[in-house]
Amino acid sequence: MNASGFRLSTRFAEVKSSPVRDILSVVGREEVISFAGGIPDANLFETDDFAAAFDYVLTHQAKRALQYASTPGEPELREQVAARLNRQLPTTAEDIQVTSGSQEGLFLVGMALLDAGDVVLVEQPTYLAAVQAFSLAGARLVSVASDDAGVLPDELAAAIAEHRPKFVYLVPNFQNPTGRTMPATRREAVAEILLRTGTPLLEDDPYGELRFDGDPVAPLAALPGMAAQTVLQNSASKTMAPGVRIGWLRAEGPILRALEVGKQAVGLQTAVTDQLAVAHYLANCDLDAHIAKVAAAYGQRRDAMVDGLLPLLPATAKLNRPEGGMFLWAELGGTVNTAEVLPRAIDAGVAFVPGWPFYAADPDHSTMRLSFVTNTPDVIAEGLTRLARAFDW
Ligand SMILES: Cc1ncc(COP(=O)(O)O)c(C=O)c1O
Repeated sequence: MNASGFRLSTRFAEVKSSPVRDILSVVGREEVISFAGGIPDANLFETDDFAAAFDYVLTHQAKRALQYASTPGEPELREQVAARLNRQLPTTAEDIQVTSGSQEGLFLVGMALLDAGDVVLVEQPTYLAAVQAFSLAGARLVSVASDDAGVLPDELAAAIAEHRPKFVYLVPNFQNPTGRTMPATRREAVAEILLRTGTPLLEDDPYGELRFDGDPVAPLAALPGMAAQTVLQNSASKTMAPGVRIGWLRAEGPILRALEVGKQAVGLQTAVTDQLAVAHYLANCDLDAHIAKVAAAYGQRRDAMVDGLLPLLPATAKLNRPEGGMFLWAELGGTVNTAEVLPRAIDAGVAFVPGWPFYAADPDHSTMRLSFVTNTPDVIAEGLTRLARAFDW
């Protein structure tokens, strides 16, 4: 026992702080050009629209906005997001649980479904903070071998047969960390396995609307039979602004009640001011036009980073060119260990995230994740010049 007398629960003793957040705290220095976090460019936020939305809420809805409220979320917001989801699959406001960011959604689903030792199947690699959230709920994470199109169907079927998971966690659009998107045919193959085996899906989709080229692919939840077996979650973070901390879960049946009870225990409700402001923004502003503007800028930045980075990489390297989202994923191959490159990069004034923390098991140490959204093409070029100094192959 330590001097304070506090004894951490086994859960907390075993779950570590996110290495990415730890890296971000080191690279927060002004002079470092960061390709590390998936940080939207604040210069592209619709600050006037949000100022007007908050102003409206605090002028016309202040008593409501400052009061306790219902746990599933404010009706206006649930209706707005249901209408948006309706473009992809039939959804009503009753199917929506508002969350304080989709990160909270991951935690709530974990709390609702997982007992200690339960297995969650994840992609390889996968979103690190999901691993953290599910681990806190006591889960054992098992990764399923994946290729450029996402989890391999045969491997998924074998893993389900072996581990009987409580659910499968997938990020099918512009995945974090790899930027990859699961094509329609792979989605159909995956859905067929999930339906046949009765395995629920947590489909995490914060990036799907941030598409720069190519055609949108329908969510797995929209495939025949899948809606009832899927919790689909979206977020305002990547399309509007992460500071409002608004996300939402779409689900059907008894799990919605469990999510609500979990949400009551965690925080009673998401900040009503923020919910009403986002609802006002969605009702009165053109989110599609905003997304088109952001996608055009991010698409240029992706090209600037891919084209500038490729010539710097060793001959063994593989670099993708995602059709949207925020991240590039480089597999450098050979004996490169990107965790050893990072301190040299930071000394040179640029930061990225080594790939190893994104693996639930057997990390590929030659991988790295770079975000192309935070900086303009000029700054990206300068960052890559600095990165070249840290590379020594
Ligand atoms: C795949 C994925 N899910 C969830 C989140 C959490 O986002 P937020 O809580 O801001 O909605 C992120 C953030 O980077 C993410 O990449």
